[in-house]
Amino acid sequence: MAEHKDEILLKVNQVFNPPERVLEKALISAEEFDKIYQKSVEDPEGFWAEQAEKELVWFEKWEKVREWNYPYYKWFVGGKLNITYNCLDRHVENGRRNKIAYIYTNEDNQEIKVTYGELLEMVNRFANGLKSLGVKKGDRVVIYMPLVIEQMVAMLACARIGAIHSVVYAGFSANALRMRIEDAEAKVVITSTWTKRRGKKIDLKSVVDEAVDGLEFVENIIVFQREGDEFELAEKEIDFNELMKNQSPECEPEVMDAEDPLFILYTSGSTGKPKGVLHTIGGYNLYTHVTTKYVFDIHEDDIYWCTADPGWITGHSYMLYGPLSVGTTSVIAEGAPDFPDPGRWWSIIEKYRVNIFYTAPTAIRLFMKYGEDWPAKYDLSSLRVLGSVGEPINPEAWIWYYENIGRKQCSIVDTWWQTETGGHMITTVPAYPQKPGKAGKPFWGIKADVVDKQGNPVEPNTVGFLVIKEPWPSALRTCWGEPERFEKYWNEIPNVYTAGDLATKDEDGYIMILGRADDVINVSGHRIGTAEVESALVSHPAVAEAAVIGKPHEVKGESIKAFVILKQGHEPSDNLLKDIKMHVRHELGSLAVPDEIEFVEKLPKTRSGKIMRRVLKAQELGMDVGDISTLED
Ligand code: WTA
Repeated sequence: MAEHKDEILLKVNQVFNPPERVLEKALISAEEFDKIYQKSVEDPEGFWAEQAEKELVWFEKWEKVREWNYPYYKWFVGGKLNITYNCLDRHVENGRRNKIAYIYTNEDNQEIKVTYGELLEMVNRFANGLKSLGVKKGDRVVIYMPLVIEQMVAMLACARIGAIHSVVYAGFSANALRMRIEDAEAKVVITSTWTKRRGKKIDLKSVVDEAVDGLEFVENIIVFQREGDEFELAEKEIDFNELMKNQSPECEPEVMDAEDPLFILYTSGSTGKPKGVLHTIGGYNLYTHVTTKYVFDIHEDDIYWCTADPGWITGHSYMLYGPLSVGTTSVIAEGAPDFPDPGRWWSIIEKYRVNIFYTAPTAIRLFMKYGEDWPAKYDLSSLRVLGSVGEPINPEAWIWYYENIGRKQCSIVDTWWQTETGGHMITTVPAYPQKPGKAGKPFWGIKADVVDKQGNPVEPNTVGFLVIKEPWPSALRTCWGEPERFEKYWNEIPNVYTAGDLATKDEDGYIMILGRADDVINVSGHRIGTAEVESALVSHPAVAEAAVIGKPHEVKGESIKAFVILKQGHEPSDNLLKDIKMHVRHELGSLAVPDEIEFVEKLPKTRSGKIMRRVLKAQELGMDVGDISTLED
């Protein structure tokens, strides 16, 4: 055991210096980064005010940079802007009208390109369409769409008129979608007919039909019909393209307050149903802009590709708002990463000469299994910066990525952040020395530390809780309808934001993220609450009790294992097992279906009846179960 630990420490202490070609081009050097960091934490308000002046267009200037009434905070108080103006209009007015905003491609190698000028027109038409349906500032709009340009249009059109979008990943089930529509009381739902994955059409429309059934407050469902579709639209349903067709291509951007809501995005916590993380406009626009520019080192002619989906925060911040605000050209690709073959992603990089590539460790590990011959067939020499996000990247995967995709000619940025943080919090910039497995250092303006339960900093290389000491511009403002859940982030350890991750910090200040400290499982970079899966399990008629844990998994990072006690009169069987899995799929979606279900007679519980998942996990992994003095039996 001890030897193994030393081995790991040795690996994560390797230092990789940025390649010469990255350094030559970098917007900022390591020394400059450090200097600016120092300034930014000594005077965060001065720093962010300077960035806000330099990077964004404001309709009216703010009166106060930050207001902090613990645990609530505001940024750019009184400032007026519209994020779509910063993402679209200003580029069109300043010589980027014909620059490509998005290159869309899919499994059939279809290609659609839209310029900034065209995107602005589409957004304006759709925004006018939403207005014609009575959607107003502050109304909620739920979006459940495939990865197509029209999804970007739908999101931006909401922001244009001040409506609050809530995007739901199109892999969630009807029940999960319905919960989110109900919680936000969405006036309109925007969807599409299908998406295609591994050559198969996946129906989305029927999921929405089930989700909105009987919801009176949903006034309209807008349906983007894809090639070949001819749907008979039912009552309340409106065709996406028809809605746009007769509208004006001009729509004045609504003058929004910096603190007006931009979007709600639901994410899993350790207890109860998902929380609706709320982000506001000004601070979010600024922070995602600045991180996109410097963490990815984006230059005017760069081609950037983030492989996420708009259904997650990475899609919001680094496929939509950040890259558009900076004015870059993005590739987006619908479909599976390894279909029709494991060369698909590398062929896209070759074809579009992608310079900056941002993906998740789970994808890297998938490609590691296919072997290095696949990427070796392609010309990947355009790449300069490689990004990682969503879960800890193990040093083996980091080095494979560095050697086989980056060909030792790229920098890797391992960006740690969360739905709640809005943007990158801990990372290195491309010109900074990198350590495989360690995300790096806090970004400008971020005071991060690793502390014990009382909030005292722990010794170097000792495990503790990752915290942020002061509000930053893109920090979540609240949880929709549940302020107490928001306050918990700042109360768990008084005065600081507790991220829910375990981490260590080394002598050089590099932070390594070890994983969640709470009952949240990270499956392929997606957050899944054990409580959610357990409640889906016990809603099955044969299940009396259930406990769920995460287990290490070679490709997914973690996989879900469930322990289930059956109700009297039910016997374990393969059929029942299948049926329970189907049930979870129906309740939550395929992401949350346990890989393993074990039928048990008993679950370890505290005397007060709480299930001790920690004990189950230790047993499962053959580890010491630790202190079990509170165990009932
Ligand atoms: C994990 C995704 C290690 C972490 C942007 C965090 C990471 C959770 C990294 C947030 C990383 C994200 N290294 N762990 N680079 N990035 N995580 O809200 O546990 O979907 O708390 O946001 O993912 O997941 P979320």
